[in-house]
Amino acid sequence: MESKEPMPLLTPHKLSPSLSLSHRIILAPLTRQRAYGNIPQKHHVTYYSQRASAGGLLVTEATGVSDTAQGYRDTPGIWTAEQVEAWRPVVDAVHAKGAAIFCQIWHVGRVSTFEFQPGGKAPVSSTTKGVGPQFTFDGRVEEFSPPRKLEVEEIPGIVDDFRKAARNAIDAGFDGVELHGANGYIIEQFLKDSSNDRDDEYGGSLEKRCRFALEVVDAVVKEIGGDRVGIRLSPFTDYMDCHDSDPHALALYMSTKLNDHGVVYLHMIEPRMAIVEGRRVVPKRLLPYKEAFKGTFIANGGYDREEGNKAVEEGYTDLVSFGRLFLANPDLPKRFEIGAEMNNYDRMTFYTSDPVVGYTDYPFLLE
Ligand SMILES: Cc1cc2nc3c(=O)[nH]c(=O)nc-3n(C[C@H](O)[C@H](O)[C@H](O)COP(=O)(O)O)c2cc1C
Repeated sequence: MESKEPMPLLTPHKLSPSLSLSHRIILAPLTRQRAYGNIPQKHHVTYYSQRASAGGLLVTEATGVSDTAQGYRDTPGIWTAEQVEAWRPVVDAVHAKGAAIFCQIWHVGRVSTFEFQPGGKAPVSSTTKGVGPQFTFDGRVEEFSPPRKLEVEEIPGIVDDFRKAARNAIDAGFDGVELHGANGYIIEQFLKDSSNDRDDEYGGSLEKRCRFALEVVDAVVKEIGGDRVGIRLSPFTDYMDCHDSDPHALALYMSTKLNDHGVVYLHMIEPRMAIVEGRRVVPKRLLPYKEAFKGTFIANGGYDREEGNKAVEEGYTDLVSFGRLFLANPDLPKRFEIGAEMNNYDRMTFYTSDPVVGYTDYPFLLE
């Protein structure tokens, strides 16, 4: 029999002086490629409000900061007035349910092609090294165009795109932004030594590789305040050919440095899941970074109800974000509360365009 104590994931957590959460089950950012022409649609309102619960926190799908930030069909942006207006009803609907929502702001860097770039130009990056062909789960091969290495003088312009996007997010009503520093996109291209081969002030040493990320953090924090800025990092993954020869040193340096900027949360992705005695287990390698970072820590990657509760109970993390489980279970906090069965996710509809199928039609528990 389970004890009468509330489960750890369902206990409150104060994120900032003005934002108190009543549970610790966070919606992880999930690209769904249904923002036609880079504009959030009516179905975004439905999708996010379905996943909102009183005192919860949602993070949006990755959202482009400028016209050079794009690399995928129908991902939303937040650099034009039209995009800002289109986000507003999404935010309002989430707030109406008593939840908070952060916008994940994103620049793909070299994970793009000429077709996505203004004027058909080369995607920009830390490097001229391109991303190799990527094999998708449905058997396709994705190819990318060779990038152009940003000149030192151009880098402040990209930093400023993040700053403006953060301001736009606040104007749209978001509670804050999450800087996408994970999964092989521009911030990570600068952070990791497989993709940063620069020998100027933005590359070479660990400190110099982290400079771009920290300049973005600094600019965004100055613009909207540290209480409204989180950052996501994935030091241990090798997504989009981005890996580091010393991920521990990178993660520790960043977790420590972020304290100087008053960032409200650090959202970190676990190394890939391991199979131990036939069971998938979360590797739980992030504790040193949770301990180094003074704000709220969010762990992600392979968690379920049991592993999530254990991680919070042990003090391994403050909050846990759920990607695929939340995608398929809009009422995830309720299901965790009562120990209900889970809907299975359908990968084949992760990135399809339909406004309903595989998007807003995952069933709720019967009331
Ligand atoms: C369909 C899909 C889209 C994703 N899109 C994003 C994204 O936009 N930004 C991001 O940081 N991570 C993205 N991720 C990674 C997830 O946020 C998360 O790290 C990953 O699914 C592992 O967590 P989980 O085991 O709880 O699903 C995506 C994952 C999936 C499955």
